[in-house]
Amino acid sequence: MTVPPELPPQAIRHLGRWVADFVAEYLATLSEQPVADPEATPARLQALLDEPLPRAPQGVEAALADFRNKIAAPSVRVGHPRFLAWMRTSPLAGAVFAEALAAALNQSVAVWQGAPAATETERLVLRWLLALSGYAPEAEGILTSGGSMANFVGMLLARQAAFPEVRQKGLRAMPPAAVYLSPEAHYSQVKAVEMMGLGKEAVRCVPTDTARRMRPDALRTAIRADKQRGIVPLAVGATLGTTATGACDPIADIAAVCAEEGVWLHVDGAYGGLAASLSTAASCARGLARADSFTVDPHKTLFVPFEAGAVFTRHRGLLPATFGARAAYLPNAEEGFQFRDYGPQLSRNFRALKIYLTLKIYGADAVMQTWERLHRLAARFGALVDAADDFQRLAPVSLGIAAFRYTPPEVAGEAALNALNHALVPVLQQQGEAFLSRTHLGETEALRACFISYRTTEDDLPRLLEAVRRAGKAVLARWRTAPGGPPTPPRREASPADCAQPSPKTS
Ligand SMILES: Cc1ncc(COP(=O)(O)O)c(C=O)c1O
Repeated sequence: MTVPPELPPQAIRHLGRWVADFVAEYLATLSEQPVADPEATPARLQALLDEPLPRAPQGVEAALADFRNKIAAPSVRVGHPRFLAWMRTSPLAGAVFAEALAAALNQSVAVWQGAPAATETERLVLRWLLALSGYAPEAEGILTSGGSMANFVGMLLARQAAFPEVRQKGLRAMPPAAVYLSPEAHYSQVKAVEMMGLGKEAVRCVPTDTARRMRPDALRTAIRADKQRGIVPLAVGATLGTTATGACDPIADIAAVCAEEGVWLHVDGAYGGLAASLSTAASCARGLARADSFTVDPHKTLFVPFEAGAVFTRHRGLLPATFGARAAYLPNAEEGFQFRDYGPQLSRNFRALKIYLTLKIYGADAVMQTWERLHRLAARFGALVDAADDFQRLAPVSLGIAAFRYTPPEVAGEAALNALNHALVPVLQQQGEAFLSRTHLGETEALRACFISYRTTEDDLPRLLEAVRRAGKAVLARWRTAPGGPPTPPRREASPADCAQPSPKTS
């Protein structure tokens, strides 16, 4: 018997079949569709998605038709083979439907008594992630919304380890402290330093080598300089798979410096954290097990949809020391394991299910082999760029990320090339053939292709270059007729981890 407002079982089945048919068709035809809808402007979407609160039921058919026409149609097709912007994967169907199953069970994976099987599933999935990453097998962890939250937790763990009284006394009781990042660190690490209350001035820039990897010798010098000034070196944030170029900081050497100097090492492996499972990139993860805490994002490289990140620490007991809290209205630690003591959230969705079902349905080996295939594809794309007269590769292709730029012979000088590459990205995104993002490498505007969609094949590589060329030519044609010539791209925003910044005198 259904109780209002629920639909009768027959209608629920109809709804489910509609959704299943939609997902199957959407995934099967993605490759034939444009990557993005050129008409999807803010004004058009706001008009399309503006309607009064539906007080009365509109019915399943009408609601789903609106979903199809107003939401799905103008959405960017993230699983498309030529969607290579940012870090957005193609989700596998098993993981897509896992989201619906998790919602049906509606477990809040915070309190064991209210989510017994979901809690144990998350603990199992965390052990699987440890096995795939090569991080310390004894580590404790928790699934998070993604890498940003995992990096924040990592920094809070460092603070808790150094100043166990911080939860009681707050920052007032802490001496000045510093965190060491390279300019290639993801901005979420800087934000984590801000959010834990130290302020951006606590960030120290550690220079990189020519391959954009943090320099351990420079790290040691920066740590010692702070110690001499009475500033506590709190944590180093190294990266396994940087956002811009996929570079891997030398974790083993950085871990050695951290051990000598007594500084916490957090490794942001949001993107490259599973490299240990790849025969081609396992060396990236060398020394990872010595990190004090570690981030990895299943929603980047395990082909599961957002949101799924994870954070681990090999210091058992430190997560509950950082986040544990007693409440009269909830079961407490003595009544069993409680994820609410392992992170900032109480209500938590059942993220583990999509990882559990993906690994069981498809197998971890197939998933990792696919990621490895994408890395080979990215390397071949790098070779195509090298072979073209009008393109330039800007960094070694690493972990499936290629940074390059369009350099047609008629455009001379860095300023004009920067302006061209900056301007062509939105044109490319509008044209619908391919979707890339941009980044800065020093003062150079770069295009960035992140091979993270399992649908991408060899055939897409020349199409990708041709699409960039077409967008570039469209920009040049526009400039020829524009009064005043090419516009100057916006100034590059300085980051606190940027070595060009003057080093702050105090923290
Ligand atoms: C290296 C790195 N760390 C952290 C993040 C943040 O991850 P999320 O978007 O899951 O919060 C990203 C995002 O791309 C990243 O590239």
